[in-house]
Amino acid sequence: MAPEDRGVYLTFYGLAEKPFNATPDPRFLYLSPAHREALAQLLYGVQERKGFIVLTGNAGTGKTTLLHALRQRLDGQTAVSFVVHSTLPFDGILEYVLEDLGIAKGGESRARRLIALNNFLIERERTGQNTVLILDEAQNLAPATLEDIRLLSNFETPTTKLLQILLVGHPELKAKLQLPELAQLTQRIGLRCQIPPLALDETREYIRTRLRIAGAHDLELFTSPAVDRIMEYSGGTPRLINIVCDHCLLFGYVDQERRIGRHIVNRAIEYLEEGTLPQRKVWRLSSLKTRRLARWAVGTLAVALASTVMGLAMRPDTAVLLARSVRHLLVP
Ligand SMILES: Nc1ncnc2c1ncn2[C@@H]1O[C@H](COP(=O)(O)OP(=O)(O)OP(=O)(O)O)[C@@H](O)[C@H]1O
Ligand SMILES: [Mg+2]
Repeated sequence: MAPEDRGVYLTFYGLAEKPFNATPDPRFLYLSPAHREALAQLLYGVQERKGFIVLTGNAGTGKTTLLHALRQRLDGQTAVSFVVHSTLPFDGILEYVLEDLGIAKGGESRARRLIALNNFLIERERTGQNTVLILDEAQNLAPATLEDIRLLSNFETPTTKLLQILLVGHPELKAKLQLPELAQLTQRIGLRCQIPPLALDETREYIRTRLRIAGAHDLELFTSPAVDRIMEYSGGTPRLINIVCDHCLLFGYVDQERRIGRHIVNRAIEYLEEGTLPQRKVWRLSSLKTRRLARWAVGTLAVALASTVMGLAMRPDTAVLLARSVRHLLVP
């Protein structure tokens, strides 16, 4: 990867890659006690063939990331179909699952597809292999679709469930499962787990973990008051922590600050909330030396920002605004 294709602040902070990307990459997994517990429960539920398993948590708390981690931890004997298209009707989901598991359809009708899936599951069971269906964003599934999905749990022998079904979603999923028409499904839930937001000390560890994995030498890059402010803003939700931290690194880089203090977090939050760049005095430069540095910085930063904006996990207009702001502040 060419250096200019990487985040603009990476070299300045000695990072090998961006620590706070928005993707659910399990390489960056931080296991808070609650995340650890949920992951252990999911593994247990699948291995013990608990049938229906429900995982809930607010938006951005790490459910999808945990599912990817689960997938990595399951042995090669377990086939997984991962469905994220939760607005599909049941037949669409079924078609997707067959394709995902590499099952020949056996026909276009629902009955034919169900027979094909049943045969596949029986064959896997015969050879001691397990099969998992993960339905992410399951809070969006229509009650009628959930009821159809319940019928998939009827694939069983007298002694074991052939298909483990993970329903994963926001807390609304729990409310949906309380609907009287879904009582039969609810009775079949073998295991429930949830992910709460991170506490303050977990938020600190979360930030340190992601920095470490991204190759940082200075794990105290975010000062303690900065972490306090990040916690206050994010409520311990990892996705929000990522967004604010990523912006902090960019603002810190623009200010050439080696450590991220509370004032930088405030500036990033102000930008995220207001969409405007706060005025600062520090860049009003006077000496010739600093003016030269300024000219160099404007050129370098403008090119770097333009070429990396597509890869940044921030609002697309951020880099453009920052480039304009830097130009405005440095070149009066
Ligand atoms: N335990 C964790 N360790 C490392 N990163 C995490 C963790 N939890 C969440 N994240 C990060 O936070 C962001 C949001 O996580 P994720 O997409 O998994 O949340 P989610 O609960 O699935 O959200 P949604 O309900 O909106 O689908 C991602 O960038 C992810 O990498
Ligand atoms: Mg998700």
